[in-house]
Order: sequence, then structure tokens, then C-alpha cells
Amino acid sequence: MAKIGILTGGGDCPGLNSVIRAVVRNGFNEGYEIMGIKNGWKGLIENDIIKLDLASVSGILPKGGTILGTSRTNPYKKEGDLQKVKENYKAFGLDALIAVGGEDTLGVAAKLIKDGITNIVGVPKTIDNDISATDYTFGFDTAVNTAMECIDKLHTTAESHHRIIVVEVMGRHAGWIAVESGIAGGADIILIPEIPIDVEEVCSLIKKRHQRGKTFSIVVVAEGGQFKKSTMVTQEQKLDEFGHVRLGGIGEILAKEIENRTGYETRVSVLGHIQRGGSPTAFDRILGTRFGVKAIELVKNKKFGKMVALSGIKIIDVPIEEAIKELKTVDMELYGIAKVFFG
Ligand code: F6P
Repeated sequence: MAKIGILTGGGDCPGLNSVIRAVVRNGFNEGYEIMGIKNGWKGLIENDIIKLDLASVSGILPKGGTILGTSRTNPYKKEGDLQKVKENYKAFGLDALIAVGGEDTLGVAAKLIKDGITNIVGVPKTIDNDISATDYTFGFDTAVNTAMECIDKLHTTAESHHRIIVVEVMGRHAGWIAVESGIAGGADIILIPEIPIDVEEVCSLIKKRHQRGKTFSIVVVAEGGQFKKSTMVTQEQKLDEFGHVRLGGIGEILAKEIENRTGYETRVSVLGHIQRGGSPTAFDRILGTRFGVKAIELVKNKKFGKMVALSGIKIIDVPIEEAIKELKTVDMELYGIAKVFFG
């Protein structure tokens, strides 16, 4: 009986458990033994691996997060870790590995394939929706709905107090969450990492709104947004194992600038990790399920080095390496639609 390992790496997101359940259920149908690797690549380094049976995935479909745990551990970071990954992969008698993750986790998968662990299949996940080669990643829809609900709530208080509220949402390199939650929530201005922020322009849009009788505004800004001629706003300079800084704080700076320049009372609300939590939407549960089922199919057909992806309404497979070459940034046509409602 073939032994298939599955791991979830990087930031968690709603829908991961749908993938794990689908991999176990479809894997069992194919007669595979499924091993759950705990906490991403860390589990392969530390030999933290458990057997997943049907009972272990029962009832997990509506649960956010990942029952396997996750980490941002990079086995290429510390001397000796890669060797441990290879040894444990062999010691556990794994025949194939399903790596569920974003650009970092899949980047490691692509390197491992070249370094001898060839039988890997990738499954893309991230609330940021920034992986190319797939139209959507699961987790994104839930995050957008969460952010939209928050924007709805902030609307009523902004309106009552005649305030500007700056809503900072996640989105490291791409502003998908900002644009979609902003459109759905009726934001008056949406600022994304793809376009440098011009504070003067933001203020004049707000003033224009006030001139036509509005006494409040909602400004959505992605955490990875940058002011013109400046760098990203970070909470600390320490880098994680994939070289990322911790973002956050742009909303606070923007709110001060708006208040100083317009004279309108301004508040900020940072949504943070709330966007990564909670029960997945139907869309994310279904997409995660389809990805998990397809991942087992790829293993069965020995289509290794491939990542499952959504193309239109079809689940396809694409080379992992191609999929992580560049990030998928916001479609400017969509941003154009958001802009119709600015000011
Ligand atoms: O990659 C997804 C993401 O949610 C980003 O939008 C955000 O910048 C980052 O993860 C936050 O990571 P952490 O959980 O390590 O704070």
C-alpha cells in the first residue's frame, strides 16, 4: 500500500481542513495510507508525523485553521535540516508528499523536487489570493467576507460619528482582499500595494465626498501599501525564515495624515488575523475539497511536480515551478471598477 504524506505550511487559512479531509477520504478510496506531517516542513525535520484515518478527519469540514498545525519553517535555512527532511521522508517510507501552502511552502517543494524528493504534488492556499496559475486560492473568499462584514460594521459607527475610518486589511504584495472587500463593503477609497499611495489625492477625494454632503468616509488600505517615495510600513525589522518582515501600521500613519490634512476626525481599525480565522465559506470548502480530491488523482497518475489549480470552473494541474515564478497582483480592470465609487 502506498504511503502518502500531507503537510500544511505558512500562514493558516480557512479551507485547509477541507483539503486534508478530501485527501484522506479520496486517498482511502484509492487504498493509500495517509500520514499527516505536523506543522509544515518542521514536522519532517522533527519527525512529527501521525497516521490519519477516517475518524481523524470526521467533522473537520466547517473548522477554520488546520488540524495538522502549521509553521513558517524553511528547511533550507538551517544547516542540516534538509538532510533531516530527506532522512525522515525515507524512514517513514513515504511514497509521495502533498504540500499545501503559499509561495514559500511551494517554493520549498520545488527545491526539494530538484534535491531528490521528486514525488511531490502542490496545493495552493493563501488568503492573499496572490498565487499565479490559479484563478482563486481557498481562504480568500472567507477572508473577503470577514473583511466585508467588518467594513459594514465600521460604516454605521463612522456615519453616526461623522468620522473617517481607515480599515487596514491583509495583503502583503497584492491588494486582492482590499479590492474585493472594499467593493463588497462599499469603501470610498481603496489603497493597494500595486499602486503607491498619494496622500494628497486621498484627501482631495475625501473632501470631494464631504462637499457633496457626506460626513463620513471609509478608506480601505492593504497592509503592504506604500506611500509614494517610501518603503513598506513594518512592525519590526526582524525577518522570518523566508525573509519577510512583519507588516502592519500603515493604517495608523495614513489616518494621522488624513486627519492633519483634512481636519476631519479619523480613526483606524486594523483587522489583522481575524481575516485568517473562522469557518470557511461554502466556496472555500468546495474549492479545498476539489483541490484535495485532485491532488490524490495526481498522485495516482504519478503527475509529480504539479500543483492543482482553478482555471475558470475547472480544476487543472500546472507545474509547481511555473506557478511560483511570479505573484498574481490585482487585475487593474477590477480596480477600475472599484475606482468608479471613490470619493
Ligand atoms: O500570507 C498571508 C498573510 O496573512 C499575509 O497577508 C500577512 O502579511 C501574513 O500572512 C501575516 O503573517 P503572520 O501570521 O506570520 O503574522
